[in-house]
Amino acid sequence: MRYAHIVGWGKALPQRIMTNDDLARIVDTSDAWIRERTGIVERRIAGPHETTATLAIAAAKEALEVAGLSGHQVDLIIVATATPEHIFPSTASLVQDALGADHAGAFDLSAACSGFVYALSMGADAIKAGSAETVLVIGAETLSRIVNWSDRSTCVLFGDGAGAVVLQAREQPGGVMATLLRSDGSGAELLILPAGGSKMPITPEALAQNLHTIKMNGREVYRFASRILDRAAREVIQKAGWNPEQVDLFVPHQANLRIIESAARALNIPMDKVFCNIQSYGNTSAASIPIALAEAAATGRLRPGDRVVMVGFGGGLTWAAAAVQWSEPRAFHRKGRTWRQLGYSLAGLRSRARRLLRHVEDRIFGSLDPALSNGKSSTPANRPRPQEQSTTSEQKR
Ligand code: UT7
Repeated sequence: MRYAHIVGWGKALPQRIMTNDDLARIVDTSDAWIRERTGIVERRIAGPHETTATLAIAAAKEALEVAGLSGHQVDLIIVATATPEHIFPSTASLVQDALGADHAGAFDLSAACSGFVYALSMGADAIKAGSAETVLVIGAETLSRIVNWSDRSTCVLFGDGAGAVVLQAREQPGGVMATLLRSDGSGAELLILPAGGSKMPITPEALAQNLHTIKMNGREVYRFASRILDRAAREVIQKAGWNPEQVDLFVPHQANLRIIESAARALNIPMDKVFCNIQSYGNTSAASIPIALAEAAATGRLRPGDRVVMVGFGGGLTWAAAAVQWSEPRAFHRKGRTWRQLGYSLAGLRSRARRLLRHVEDRIFGSLDPALSNGKSSTPANRPRPQEQSTTSEQKR
């Protein structure tokens, strides 16, 4: 039987720190209100050159470092994000290119704040089914780019960052032991980015109404989260064949300290078994759980053999849980590190060379459409649009 073990972990956070007092200078809020209602003290905000992809790449490199692997050895890359670099291409493809992961498939996964646990489940299933040996699972966000900085009810909550884990196939029992994925689309409008998709493209009107920024019914989402957090944890613990008392660390999505504390009470888990870093980073959506895992492992809160339960919840509405037996990282080789750095530099050069080659090919061979290269046919600009075409056929009838 194959098991999907977590053999590497990493995180990346922007340098810039925004404190509650900084926010109080922008909107009508206070450090006391934010601390008391959310537990957040500060958050990280991406700088002009930082994006979801750059953070995802940095976290992925750190995770590969811990795993002692190179991009070349990765079979699949999944990036869970609500703030992808573009609608397409996927952020995962950009990560694949930067890592020189030439043998990897790559896709983004959209499940809002539950995204990382969804992606972990998909990655583990790919390994268990035998279609992949090594999977990179990343949660990455730049929520500061989709926040309405004049809406105090949301802008104080979110932050930027990325976390990543490397999953690898092993015969020995451990790793991802059980997962649970759920959705309730009837609550779709409770946490939504209204404009920018196919239903409502971005128009000057949408921009004027700030519909390209996060809208959230905080109270309803709070009620939903308080209902499902301990229930999902209980279900996945049972699925893994464990008891709640056997859990060494509970890593919930970092959305609100009050939600986390009430779930811990309901589960009868003491707070010293609950990982919280919301005070430093705020809510980083799909990135919050992998950042927490990387910090817990780096600070000794997670040790090989430990049983960890993670629960994500958020937009969709979605929620997801995973029960994982923590593994040894692969041996760390300094020598390998130099080769990995060299590999990333070569990957960058190769990517640039491929772009250049495409450009040169385009110059030499031009368009592959003979009609276009003869200059006989219409250019895309003067081709009839679908609407015009249907009018013409109706007129014919
Ligand atoms: O990751 C996705 C999942 N998201 C979540 O889990 C978020 C869940 N929701 C929450 O965490 C909480 O609902 C919030 C932190 C967003 C809000 O806390 P709350 O205790 O539910 O506050 P509220 O919305 O009931 O608002 C209470 C008051 C209101 O004033 P009035 O109407 O009572 O006069 C708000 O206008 O607090 C006011 N308020 C603020 N005051 C100062 C709302 N935001 C702020 C603010 N600073 N930033």
